[in-house]
Amino acid sequence: MISVLDLKAEYNALKTEVDAAIRRVLESGVFVGGPEVEMFESELKAYLGVKHTVSVGSGTDALFIALRALGVGPGDEVIAPAFTFIATIEAILHAGAKPVLADIDQETFNLDPAGLEGAVSPKTRAVLPVHLYGQPAPMSEISSFAAKHNLKVVEDAAQAIGARYCYPGSPRPNQLQADPGVAVGTLGHAAAFSFYPTKNLAAYGDGGLVATNDDSLAEKARMLAVHGAKTRYHHELAAGYTSRLDALQAAILRAKLPQLESWNAKRRRIAKAYTESLSELVFTPVVASYSLHTFHQYTIRTPERDRLIAHLKHKGVGSSIHYPLPVHLQPAYTHLGSPGQFPHAEKAAREVLSLPMHPFLTDEQAEYIGSAVRSFFG
Ligand SMILES: Cc1ncc(COP(=O)(O)O)c(C=O)c1O
Repeated sequence: MISVLDLKAEYNALKTEVDAAIRRVLESGVFVGGPEVEMFESELKAYLGVKHTVSVGSGTDALFIALRALGVGPGDEVIAPAFTFIATIEAILHAGAKPVLADIDQETFNLDPAGLEGAVSPKTRAVLPVHLYGQPAPMSEISSFAAKHNLKVVEDAAQAIGARYCYPGSPRPNQLQADPGVAVGTLGHAAAFSFYPTKNLAAYGDGGLVATNDDSLAEKARMLAVHGAKTRYHHELAAGYTSRLDALQAAILRAKLPQLESWNAKRRRIAKAYTESLSELVFTPVVASYSLHTFHQYTIRTPERDRLIAHLKHKGVGSSIHYPLPVHLQPAYTHLGSPGQFPHAEKAAREVLSLPMHPFLTDEQAEYIGSAVRSFFG
């Protein structure tokens, strides 16, 4: 069976570096905070080109800590896409604010700027675009909309580390080269990253990070993550949390970070091969002209989705659905919208299917997966 992910292959490829990193932490006797965490934060700061990085316990924590550090709270509304992993919405609720949903663009699966005006109200304080599947959201339009209404922008970059955004007028990125444009996570007032084990840069446990160029936001986020204190046992912000990246995870992430660019490039090469093989049969991912995509997921769309899953399983190919329900049709969140209100999100939920995607997939496997999908369509 070709599975959607192969975390063992990744470990085997980097075993020497990862084992050494783990041993270094065990021998140091420093398990929370300390030099590994500080070095990881500064390496990521340099990688993203951002002024501050505050590591926290998860991507979800990074989102709600960023929102709280921006002053978003009870009585406020935050605009978010109707099609995302549920943590985006939970973070708004944890901050005490109300999520207001907007539809997605049916080609990129990201927030459709055309739906934003209809979601704004006098209570709106922020907009929370998600760089879904590793492709940047249309940040120029979102930032102009936010500036017009005096809103904060918090990027949900949980799936998109390494993705880059090219502002209008700059050259279109070549998907096989790195380094055009600006890193996602530096495009709004704050951004949240996740290092959950399935992510492109992944820990062996939970982890997350807030990135921002704003000094005071960074200071507040750092305090909120550690009981609202700047100095130990002096608590200035209520109520803080315990949300820290531990030293083991930081050391593991440091061992992997030097590989991230080449891993993301490999994902783009696999995506190109899939698209060449499948674009006449199914709806294949559209890479927006401004975007260097990281293909956290390679997600196709077809009305025959459920039968295709069974066919692929029969052929020994795994696949997964990200996500089977839009936010407003989730049992816990029906009050955020009604059926039919966000048609592109609903259609995506009915039709999307993610094919195996990771940097250790061989060319032969990718070709086999393409032919397995093709054989379904005869
Ligand atoms: C879009 C999105 N937002 C937020 C999160 C939350 O990250 P974590 O699982 O680290 O809390 C995830 C992670 O799966 C995600 O995919």
